[in-house]
Amino acid sequence: MKIGILTSGGDSPGMNAAVRSAVRSAIHEGFEAYGIYRGYEGLIDGDIKKLDVSSVADILHRGGTMLRTARSERFRTEEGQRKAASVLDTFGIDSLIVIGGDGSMRGGLDLTKYGIRVMVLPGTIDNDLAYTDYTIGFDTAINTVLSAISNIRDTSSAHERTTVIEVMGRSSGSIALYAGLAGGAESILVPEETFDLSAVCRKIIEGRNRGKLHNIIIKAEGVEIGTEELAREIEARTGFEARIVVLSYLQRGGSPTAQDRLLASLTAAKAVELIAEGSESRAVGMVNGLIVSYPLEEAIRLQGSKEYDRRFMELADVLS
Ligand code: F6P
Repeated sequence: MKIGILTSGGDSPGMNAAVRSAVRSAIHEGFEAYGIYRGYEGLIDGDIKKLDVSSVADILHRGGTMLRTARSERFRTEEGQRKAASVLDTFGIDSLIVIGGDGSMRGGLDLTKYGIRVMVLPGTIDNDLAYTDYTIGFDTAINTVLSAISNIRDTSSAHERTTVIEVMGRSSGSIALYAGLAGGAESILVPEETFDLSAVCRKIIEGRNRGKLHNIIIKAEGVEIGTEELAREIEARTGFEARIVVLSYLQRGGSPTAQDRLLASLTAAKAVELIAEGSESRAVGMVNGLIVSYPLEEAIRLQGSKEYDRRFMELADVLS
């Protein structure tokens, strides 16, 4: 049996660990492993190479993805999907392991219509897949943000400034919420909540009244107000000098944490195990510390139902 492996969408630290585990677990089971480069885009182009155990040596600790990745417009069309399926057929690949986020998971479901078995692994820093508690790359990303918060806190405190730190998350506030709570941010702004400028400024002024001279505001990129505009408003309303830091792609790189490497290694091995058992297409993740899998349609149906943990926000507010 031949298994194809691809990474798709925004990269995330730990994708390499997943590729390594998928390739080596597949070979261990007696399968052939094929790396598909540049995600669905490369699949359409037939950018495919057979991999052996040494092909994935020395990548476990690296961010990025050795298979590279892309956001494929062509794959959104039926013509693109048909072409992708015919390329797989030409190579004799009937099972695919897709490592990516929401769009990649939906792309996987599209391919199942052509008789391809697809196992999805949750690869995104956003932690916005409802079927799994955590996604590969999230832990590394929040630790990167945390270390940035610590550095920024030092200089903010020296200059008695307010700093607005913009983190990734177009529609999910998970990175902001976790890093904000762990980093002691004064306010955390997420797309799931209605933005309230007065509440942010009130907190800063109340803090000043009890002697607090610097503030860290964590804002997810998807919050309706622009980051620069927010800093200007804070300055105007509080009198505190306000600066901005946009962490952007810094959050997507770096060596994966132990937690991300474990999640990647375990979910990829599980995907191969499912293929060996002849399972239908599934999405593999982690719930309550256990590796679990759901039928792909069900994992997609669950999207949008991930609970936003208000207690995190409330606790961050109490503690800061
Ligand atoms: O991978 C998810 C993500 O990091 C989002 O948080 C962000 O909005 C998006 O990717 C940006 O990625 P790109 O600029 O590569 O499309």
